[in-house]
Amino acid sequence: MFDHLSAVPQADEGTLVCVTPWSATLQAQARAEALAAWFRCPLVPRGRRSIEQVFAEEGVSGVLVAEDPPRLYHRAQPGQPFFFHPGLARPRLAALAHGLPDRLLRVAGIRPGDVVVDATLGTGTDSLVLAYGVGPDGRVIAIESSWVLARLFAWAKRENGHGYPGMRELLARIEVVYGDNEQVMAAMASDSADVVYFDPMFRRPIAEQDATIAPARPWTDPRPLSDAAWREAQRIARRCVVLKERPASDQFARFGLVPDKPRAKIAFGVWNKEREAR
Ligand SMILES: C[S@@+](CC[C@H](N)C(=O)[O-])C[C@H]1O[C@@H](n2cnc3c(N)ncnc32)[C@H](O)[C@@H]1O
Repeated sequence: MFDHLSAVPQADEGTLVCVTPWSATLQAQARAEALAAWFRCPLVPRGRRSIEQVFAEEGVSGVLVAEDPPRLYHRAQPGQPFFFHPGLARPRLAALAHGLPDRLLRVAGIRPGDVVVDATLGTGTDSLVLAYGVGPDGRVIAIESSWVLARLFAWAKRENGHGYPGMRELLARIEVVYGDNEQVMAAMASDSADVVYFDPMFRRPIAEQDATIAPARPWTDPRPLSDAAWREAQRIARRCVVLKERPASDQFARFGLVPDKPRAKIAFGVWNKEREAR
């Protein structure tokens, strides 16, 4: 449907270099070459350099180490690399497999065969759960405005989930789209998705969101959800648009939503198209 990963210019140009791990096997060297091409960044010799030395000598803010899965270091927190892993999706998927409900799937009313737009991919935890919810006949269009986060998740998809059990099938249902969610949705037809989901960076961060997103935080786009993106979501969604935020966040009132759990740490607000039409 989309080919945004190659069509959109690289946003973080000049910020990233790729290196091999210290034990540079032929396999790691080949992976480094493929990764540098995938991320459209230079491959520089590692030598015996530490990550800190690579930052200092190359003058970049990011270093991608060609491990499996690849590790992404940011200058702001060199001790906390980001890499693909199912993370918090794992217990949620395990609970679903045991017939227990998932809060996001329930509030969003996700059904088998649905087309869901996850307008804020991030680390992909929610996209993986949504991919489970839509089943083999559904799909998730996952939009991310951070080039490196979009690219890293797309690499995990290409690598079939790096061997994590059950990931291959779920990743196959997720289409990663690099770009601003407003612009990507503007290119989509009206009523072309069942549900649109937004989980922007919280205006006031909390530990729960931080636990998942912390290693990726320096790479994330901190902007609040735009009015135009919300309007595009309302236009392309057949059933509903869902927003995740802290319950006391002013973002719910901004879009005329009521948080589902006013005393919980996180809340969901749902705008329902059918109800609006009545
Ligand atoms: C809190 S994280 C989402 C976490 C995600 N739900 C998960 O399960 O990992 C928010 C993500 O939205 C991205 N983002 C922010 N504004 C965006 C925009 N306008 N278009 C696309 N992505 C955006 C950020 O870069 C960040 O990765």
